[in-house]
This record gives sequence, C-alpha cells and structure tokens, in this order.
Amino acid sequence: MQKKIVAGNWKMNTTFQEGEALVKAIIAGKNETPDDVLLIVAPPFTHLCCLTEPLREAGIGVAAQNCASEEKGAYTGEVSAKMLASIGVEYCIIGHSERREYYGETGEILLKKVQQSLSAGLRPIFCVGEVLAEREANRHFEVVGQQLDEVILKLTPADFAKTIIAYEPVWAIGTGKTASSEQAQEIHAHIRKVLVGKFGGAANDTAILYGGSCKPSNAKELFAQPDVAGGLIGGASLVADDFIAIAKAG
Ligand code: 13P
Repeated sequence: MQKKIVAGNWKMNTTFQEGEALVKAIIAGKNETPDDVLLIVAPPFTHLCCLTEPLREAGIGVAAQNCASEEKGAYTGEVSAKMLASIGVEYCIIGHSERREYYGETGEILLKKVQQSLSAGLRPIFCVGEVLAEREANRHFEVVGQQLDEVILKLTPADFAKTIIAYEPVWAIGTGKTASSEQAQEIHAHIRKVLVGKFGGAANDTAILYGGSCKPSNAKELFAQPDVAGGLIGGASLVADDFIAIAKAG
C-alpha cells in the first residue's frame, strides 16, 4: 500500500514571518496525522532556505512551486532545480494551471522543467487539468491526455517512476467548487490508464493527487477513491488546522 500524500501549495502567500509561524503550527499538528500520510509543504522560494531544515527534521517533505527550464546561466530572476536541491528541497510542482495560464508555460517548457528537476534529483509533482469550457464540452479526457503526452509520456521509465501527478481541474481551483468523488475517480482512473499504456504495471504505483477546493469536509471522500492518492491543497494549506485535518482524512 502506497503512502497517501497531502501537499500544501502556498502559492504567493505569507511573509517569511507568517510562513515560519505556519510551519511551526504544521509541525506541531503533524503528530495527529496518520503515519501512512506523507505531508509535503511548498512555500515560496524566499522561505525555502530557512524552512527546509525544520520541515525535513519533522519528517515533512519540502517542495518548490516552480523551477527554471534551464540548468544555469544568464536567466535573471530564475531559480534552478539544482539550487533548490542544494538546500534540501525534494519536490518541485511543475505545470500548475496558474503557471500555464499567467506565464505562458507550454508543454515544451514544462518538459524541460521536469527534466531539469529530475536531473537535479528533485521529484516533480506534475499538474494537469482542464478548464470549465473543456469539461462542459466533454473534452477533459482528451485535454489531460494531451498534457500527459507532451511531458510525462516522454520521460524514461526510471524518471517516470520518480514523478507524482496532480489532477487539478481549473474550474475547481480556488472556486469552492470541488470535483465530486465520482468525477475525480473517473479521471484519475483515465490518467492511470494512459500511464499504464505507456509505462506498464509501474504506473499502478504512481501517486495521482487531486487538487481544487479540497478541504477538511470533502477530503475523506475524495481520498477514499481507489485512484486518488491524496491531495494538492491550496487555500486550506494556509490554515494549519485545516491542513492537518485534511491529512487526517488520508
Ligand atoms: P485551492 O485548494 O485553493 O482550490 O487550490 C488548489 C491548487 O491550486 C493547489 O495547487
């Protein structure tokens, strides 16, 4: 049985001091969470250097929210996967819909980011998901299939084995609208089918997380679905009690 994963994506929230206090509260609450739930926290870049050590000492995984598509060099303002790995970061969220939509990150760019992460020793948490119009046109399987095809299906089996997938329907992110557990299971099973089609039985062990208005009240039902390995949590991960309550549902 794979460990469930509950990962908090803080996005562009918290000052360093607020982030430090939030980490303290999450660490304090961790002993209430089941042993078979892996907690991961993804604070902003500015916080990572100071917060990675206490988080890892507490047995909590640390993720970055993004990394550069290039290895190093004259790319002002960018942060490389190698830099992140050098301070103990273990995971990197890549392909979040906010990066795709607001920063024009295409499949080609995302493949480079995933490859940079993997070669630096970071495990990518690769996000896929359709917008509302695509769901309404019944194109969600096709859209998610293409997002996987552009990036994940191009990986070697060894790299694929290190990758975590997060299905985040864009219409559910920050809207309070959650996919029903049936909708989540249906598309998670589809994602798994696509992955098994390419990588065979190894894909049965791939963690596929659900993200989008996941909260203490709906986490249990979502996480109980056979192909839902946990959650990628936005808003609720900024409130330690809620984040811990979601982890308890794992
Ligand atoms: P919310 O939980 O705020 O809907 O955000 C989900 C998300 O985008 C996590 O990456």
